[in-house]
Amino acid sequence: MRTLLLLIFINLFLFSSDLKKDVALVKNKVYTNECGACHFAYFPGLLPEKSWKKLMSNLENHFGDDATVDKQTFQTLAKFLNENSAEKNMNYKRSRKIVNSIPKDEVYITISKTPYIHKKHKKIKKHLITQKEVKGLFNCTACHKGAKKAIFNDDDVDIPNYGKWED
Ligand code: HEC
Ligand code: HEC
Repeated sequence: MRTLLLLIFINLFLFSSDLKKDVALVKNKVYTNECGACHFAYFPGLLPEKSWKKLMSNLENHFGDDATVDKQTFQTLAKFLNENSAEKNMNYKRSRKIVNSIPKDEVYITISKTPYIHKKHKKIKKHLITQKEVKGLFNCTACHKGAKKAIFNDDDVDIPNYGKWED
């Protein structure tokens, strides 16, 4: 019994020390160029694989825009997204929380509408999100100063025309 408990503790310790902040900082040049042309190149760890698959299956009508790419580019992007998706990064806190917040039979193609991310932004006044300096929640980099470095901590938030976020 004692050794069993000890083993459990060791495991817990190892597991928690392996828990990383936010999302995995992964980069791919083709991805940054293509998927960072109109907005911040979202880290793959912000959505599960099935979300990326669904989103990539309809680039002709991508939120009203045409985001199609040639076949070879498509394969590079799809591979990068799937290999680095949220479920592949469950040791990262935000990836894990996003995945765990999504009901089994639902597929979100917007990060900002996933239950976890949606909930995290509920306290922000609407006009601060819709103002022209931000436009919408999709625009992570407008408020999260470290977003490009995969830092999404609330201490690192600075909302235009509002300032630092004090919780
Ligand atoms: C031609 C411009 C354009 C390109 C290129 C583009 N997007 Fe988008 N994307 C948009 C627009 C517009 C929206 C909607 C923003 C809004 O909510 O108003 C969007 C939204 C998104 C969202 C949802 C953001 C949220 O609210 O959580 C994801 C995810 C996304 N794009 C991924 C991609 C990926 C992956 C690629 C590359 C294959 C890509 N985009 C390329 C224009 C583009
Ligand atoms: C209008 C500014 C704004 C935009 C745009 C925005 N956020 Fe946030 N975000 C915030 C604020 C403010 C908080 C802290 C809210 C709180 O603590 O109540 C936050 C919290 C978070 C948290 C939780 C951080 C923590 O320490 O608990 C995550 C993760 C996050 N945002 C990710 C994103 C992602 C990903 C995007 C883009 C898809 C995004 N945010 C867009 C302002 C913004």
